[in-house]
Amino acid sequence: MISLIIIGAGGFGRETLDVVRSLNRSSSSPVYDLLGVVDSQPSEANLSRLDALGVRFLGSESDWIASSRLAQYLVGVGSPKIRRQIAHRFDSAGYRAATVVHPTAVVGSNSTLSAGSVVCAGAQISTNVVIGAHAHINPNATVGHDAVLKDFVSLNPGSVVSGEVVCETEVLVGAGAVVLQGLTLGARSLVGAAACVTRSLTADTIAKGVPARPYRPDGAPS
Ligand SMILES: CC(C)(COP(=O)(O)OP(=O)(O)OC[C@H]1O[C@@H](n2cnc3c(N)ncnc32)[C@H](O)[C@@H]1OP(=O)(O)O)[C@@H](O)C(=O)NCCC(=O)NCCS
Repeated sequence: MISLIIIGAGGFGRETLDVVRSLNRSSSSPVYDLLGVVDSQPSEANLSRLDALGVRFLGSESDWIASSRLAQYLVGVGSPKIRRQIAHRFDSAGYRAATVVHPTAVVGSNSTLSAGSVVCAGAQISTNVVIGAHAHINPNATVGHDAVLKDFVSLNPGSVVSGEVVCETEVLVGAGAVVLQGLTLGARSLVGAAACVTRSLTADTIAKGVPARPYRPDGAPS
């Protein structure tokens, strides 16, 4: 068995935990020995939730790294930016990221996933898709043929990324949003929940609505 820790006691950390447990249950013998969850600032509510799941809280990121215990890791934190920071810290300390795919997810022919990626229940990844490091493919998200998702991309539940779309690094596609075929979402762009993206987005854009239009939270022209 491979020793594994999950970083993040919040929602996606515990969803990642479910993916790992489902994987273990569906294999003839468990693949991962889940040692527990690491979190530098867990809320009391999340500690109670871990307790209810019978999962050990292993302390802060610094505590874990100082312990020098060996294990692979997964970052279960939804924010692409924070996920990048945590992954960088663990990679620099010599840890290796695992890659997990829920047994009910579908990964098509010639599609590849990189270290740290988590594919949740019901996700559908079509053929010839390239998925970078530490991507989060949430429940029921779909990725069309020949799409490319660079590192630290998050597809929220039920989002649809169509064929030949390119999501640059740290893109987040909101729940239930649709990105039409062949578009490019620039680095760190964010698509609002339920939006329909009909034009490519430049880096650092937030877009919402149907059709999706760039939007600035401070109200300034985008
Ligand atoms: C689009 C988004 C980034 C905007 O975030 P924000 O800047 O904090 O926006 P606010 O909540 O302050 O709302 C600002 C305005 O946008 C509207 N708005 C917010 N989200 C919207 C969306 N997805 N589509 C259309 N309008 C939206 C609000 O109603 C509000 O309008 P108003 O000024 O007329 O009242 C965010 O709402 C979003 O959709 N994020 C994705 C979240 C997601 O996927 N959640 C699921 C997690 S599993």
